[in-house]
Amino acid sequence: MSAEPETDTQHIRQKVESIQWHHSINLGSGLVTPGQDNSAKKLQRLAFPATFEGKSVLDIGSWDGFFAFEAERRGAEKVLATDSFIWQGGVDWAGKQGFDLAKSVLRSKVEEKVVDILDITPENVGMHDVVFFLGVLYHMRHPLLSLEKVASVTKEMVILETAVDMLWHRRPAIAFYPTDEVGQDPTNWCGPNTAAVVGMLRTVGFKRVKVISGVRSLPWRIAKAAYYKWKRGHQFWSGLRFDRIVVHAWKE
Ligand SMILES: C[S@@+](CC[C@H](N)C(=O)[O-])C[C@H]1O[C@@H](n2cnc3c(N)ncnc32)[C@H](O)[C@@H]1O
Repeated sequence: MSAEPETDTQHIRQKVESIQWHHSINLGSGLVTPGQDNSAKKLQRLAFPATFEGKSVLDIGSWDGFFAFEAERRGAEKVLATDSFIWQGGVDWAGKQGFDLAKSVLRSKVEEKVVDILDITPENVGMHDVVFFLGVLYHMRHPLLSLEKVASVTKEMVILETAVDMLWHRRPAIAFYPTDEVGQDPTNWCGPNTAAVVGMLRTVGFKRVKVISGVRSLPWRIAKAAYYKWKRGHQFWSGLRFDRIVVHAWKE
């Protein structure tokens, strides 16, 4: 990463074009990174507090850092972004370049640390008022253990977003994906249902758990499954099984 902030718009544009982005980050001067993720839309669903003033925020699995930069924009006193898989070259088409460039262009003070979620402790990342665990749970081989790690560094609340599966089961259930059966992505390991997410959060010590944005209606999921079959060739029937939810959980 360069020590001096990036300022030359043409140069920045060229660098942006050379990176495979996950997030769509507004870098100013009409430049939005071409991420596959509709980050602004996801942000609305997450229902972040209007301000993080005076708060310390930890963003686990930050990738290009959209949500860490958003926490900073909303006044967080300190933000730490962490990641391991993508930042350490887990795939050959993406890395940490996007985070580094966005941080430089935004003149952000977000701190960063390469650490696997299972290695996180209060000693190596600190304790944080708010922890983001967005789009990470279903990548975990050990979902309950990873949530224990999240709880161990959370002072007040966690904001969690995840894919969910097993939607026809009312009891807590977690689907296991031993291969690449979900999205042809071998890094997808588990698909909990909402009851399992809520139950795991309670188990690891969150006293109050609120589903902010739950599983959407069957007609909505049918339309989504049809879209993904058309757009990415995903199987229609298995597409119906999935959705994504947002949960906020508090220690007290
Ligand atoms: C689907 S992306 C989500 C990115 C971002 N949080 C979001 O919601 O848009 C999953 C992220 O989790 C990271 N990740 C996966 N396994 C991890 C692990 N064991 N420890 C830390 N980060 C991990 C990946 O590198 C990737 O950046």
